[in-house]
Amino acid sequence: MKLADNKATLSFSNGSPSIEMPVYSGSIGPDVIDIRKLYGQTGMFTYDPGFLSTASCQSDITFIDGDKGELLYRGYPIEQLANHGDYLDTCYLLLHGDLPDAKQSTDFHKLVNNHTMVNEQMQFFLRGFRRDAHPMAVMTGLVGALSAFYHDSTDITNPEHREISAIRLIAKLPTLVAMSYKYGIGQPFMYPQNSLSYSGNFLRMMFGVPCEDYVVNPVLERALDRIFILHADHEQNASTSTVRLCGSSGTNPFAAVAAGVACLWGPAHGGANEACLKMLDDIQKMGGISKVGEFMEQVKDKNSGVKLMGFGHRVYKNYDPRAKLMQETCNEVLAELGLENDPMFKLAKQVEKIALEDDYFVSRKLYPNVDFYSGIVQRAIGIPVNLFTGVFALARTVGWIAQLNEMIGDPEYKIGRPRQLFTGSPRRNVPGAK
Ligand code: CMC
Repeated sequence: MKLADNKATLSFSNGSPSIEMPVYSGSIGPDVIDIRKLYGQTGMFTYDPGFLSTASCQSDITFIDGDKGELLYRGYPIEQLANHGDYLDTCYLLLHGDLPDAKQSTDFHKLVNNHTMVNEQMQFFLRGFRRDAHPMAVMTGLVGALSAFYHDSTDITNPEHREISAIRLIAKLPTLVAMSYKYGIGQPFMYPQNSLSYSGNFLRMMFGVPCEDYVVNPVLERALDRIFILHADHEQNASTSTVRLCGSSGTNPFAAVAAGVACLWGPAHGGANEACLKMLDDIQKMGGISKVGEFMEQVKDKNSGVKLMGFGHRVYKNYDPRAKLMQETCNEVLAELGLENDPMFKLAKQVEKIALEDDYFVSRKLYPNVDFYSGIVQRAIGIPVNLFTGVFALARTVGWIAQLNEMIGDPEYKIGRPRQLFTGSPRRNVPGAK
């Protein structure tokens, strides 16, 4: 970041002296006012619940222009990466800053492939869960438990530990998500098959069985790879900020990523894909397309507590570029599987059409986000609804680690410690105490 030409001046109506604060510019996006000395100079904090106007860090990784509906990973538009890239090359890009050349790409694919198995003991840990446990509950536990199995990569201050834990997390997440699925349905775990691609391997671990050969469908393989690319990073969202905050205490990378998994689970964040499909299912049960108008009335009624899941975003005030790509992927997958007339897809398109013409959504700049179509694609592939957020977590793991490693490598980094505006009782005495 560099100092901007102008400075910010904060003045007070009570006559206290005004103060000047430096302004910094990044490469693109809004400038920031540096308030780090504000408390020392005025004894006051800033107040910004939900971080509506607060940049919590500087970062080189991902940039969103919410008004344009643009998403860049290390400068590359998401559309180009989704159409011409590969997920593991995208992981390399996020971790290292540039796309790999041919040799770097081969080496990186090989390296990740070498780490796809998990310690055999992990299945006994997994077997402690109820079979009907939500996969995100299981994933939170399993990812946290990795720190109990890989002691040689838990020192966050050691760059080699950070590198190997990054590879382990990227490589093992598909294995763990598939294991949590197989456990829930009572099928044997499928060991990874490293001659397959990252997404092909995941498909086989999910849908293969030991007694039969599994042939990967290339259309589904490509679609899944694309879903992974679309979810790989998204700058300082809630789960990424959670990983950064958790990691800022110096805890190990597995524990920090487990915190990210837990945060992602919520329906306002990664859990929205599951919630969106449930919502479409509810509308279907109400009577389908003919009932969309009635459902929209509920959404617009603030007292109903009903939200249009898969719509709206803190940063995008335009169409989420990932939603467009997800809709294309949805078309490809449904055509491949002969499901062009899928009633859920038709319903989703109708909901989108009505919302985009309705003043409630237009005036608030509410557009479909990545979660609106991702559930329909995943369901068509055969992924069960309660595993959608697990697939999101798998894909986002690289973003969490890239952001965590960027923070730890930053000489200016400090433990994250927000302040508060206290509104509770001032000091008082317990009866009988003085
Ligand atoms: N349905 C109905 N109204 C909405 C919706 C929605 N999905 N989203 C926002 N609004 C309304 C909101 O009620 C508010 O109205 P008013 O100004 O009259 O009070 C206005 O739009 C602004 O919304 P906000 O709640 O202040 O916006 P936010 O930035 O705090 O919340 C959000 C962003 C994503 C949490 C929210 O849009 C939402 O809950 N959407 C549904 C859940 C969802 O799809 N989440 C996935 C986000 S993208 C992937 C990810 O991050 O994991």
